[in-house]
Amino acid sequence: MIRSTITSRSLNPLKYLGHNLGKPSFNQPIMKSVRWHGGPKVSSDAPTVPITFINPHPSERTNTSEEEIPKLTVEAKIGETLLQTAQRNHIDLEGACEGVCACSTCHLIIDDDLFDTLSEPSEDEEDMLDMAFGLTMTSRLGCQVKVSEEFRDTVIKVPEMTRNFYVDGHVPQGH
Ligand code: FES
Repeated sequence: MIRSTITSRSLNPLKYLGHNLGKPSFNQPIMKSVRWHGGPKVSSDAPTVPITFINPHPSERTNTSEEEIPKLTVEAKIGETLLQTAQRNHIDLEGACEGVCACSTCHLIIDDDLFDTLSEPSEDEEDMLDMAFGLTMTSRLGCQVKVSEEFRDTVIKVPEMTRNFYVDGHVPQGH
């Protein structure tokens, strides 16, 4: 855990500087995002916001130039996780642990401005992010980030590579 925390902070020193470095006071709540197990149940008629996923099917790409990278705009339900949004719309994003923050296969790269509005990742999420291929300063796990109004017209990138725990050709399905 110490190794992973240091790694995450070194990737994004401004974001993590001072984060949990001192001993927490009992009078001082620690602001951490909630860990979602399997994803929240969201009503089928929940309000939606448009989100564009870049590179939605990375496993099908072959030497595509930057301009040719595919994009897909979908309606994301407010309250669901980005992993749920992606899988509901058949975007090639795996969730090997089914959204319990125990893998890094739902790794996504968040738009800079949107990233700054999100709550801090939990220590569990930081640990799993350390295992993600192509980690960036604005990486998050799709199963740990819930869609809100702030996501309207934002862009989410699906990394070209993911740490895929499946070895049998399993195709990810929504939970
Ligand atoms: Fe495993 Fe998100 S699905 S960490």
